[in-house]
Amino acid sequence: MQIVKSVAEMQSICRKLRTQDGMRGFVPTMGALHKGHISLIQRARTECQTVAASIFVNPLQFAPGEDFAQYPRTFEEDCRLLEAEGVALLFAPEAREMYPDGAVTTITVPGIGDRLDGASRPGHFTGVATVVAKLFHIVAPHRAYFGQKDAAQLAVLRQMVQDLNFDLEVVGCAIVRDTDGLALSSRNKYLNGLEREQALVLHQALVRIAKSIAGGERESSTLLQIGRNILDKATGVQVDYLAIVNAESLLPVVYVEKGTLVAVAAYVGRTRLIDNFLAA
Ligand code: PAF
Repeated sequence: MQIVKSVAEMQSICRKLRTQDGMRGFVPTMGALHKGHISLIQRARTECQTVAASIFVNPLQFAPGEDFAQYPRTFEEDCRLLEAEGVALLFAPEAREMYPDGAVTTITVPGIGDRLDGASRPGHFTGVATVVAKLFHIVAPHRAYFGQKDAAQLAVLRQMVQDLNFDLEVVGCAIVRDTDGLALSSRNKYLNGLEREQALVLHQALVRIAKSIAGGERESSTLLQIGRNILDKATGVQVDYLAIVNAESLLPVVYVEKGTLVAVAAYVGRTRLIDNFLAA
């Protein structure tokens, strides 16, 4: 695996390769890799001739007071995992390489970018859209792979790709869970034993809602109440949002249809976790 830290070098390698290496898949990450990231790499490997990944903890998507400084950084171990999964090229720039002095341009996706996590974390999706647009320009992939766990991020990036005519396909990949149902996340590393137990309520609330949908209940207000009843009884958990929305626009829907997004965000202790499912 070739590790590249400079934008100019990565861009030059990728430009040359674009004509030679067939389909290129790209998996952007912030590192602290887990089985969820590995599933993105494996999907990319089955669909593309070469796979590039990036590791960059993007300061622009963290608000002051959020966990940028504490965000887990496990670069050596990440490199081992990526190498073992057959990633050909890793882009791992420093922050000043991505945002040199004088860089002022950002990308905002209004509307969608202000909903769900965008409402709770103002400016977050501007940071995400800006860094991902830059990464797309640098890596020039044909397909880019993102986890469905970050459903709002996926919607924002799909809109950006469409609006700005990026010549690539955004591929959403299924959430990977621990055996007890907890969605894998780099932020799970922050949880102590008790919080890890308490965090399970997010998945439990979603499972209960999914069962009600399977049983024929389609009214969002009723389903939200079912979920809230479970979440509100949980100790150590502070709900940020429980929402039933259109998966593309992230706008609330009155009735659930196939593909409707049911999403939850909550603080467990000081850790903000998210989870969701798409209605069957
Ligand atoms: O999902 C993430 O890890 C990040 O938001 C991303 C897409 C790598 C952008 O920094």
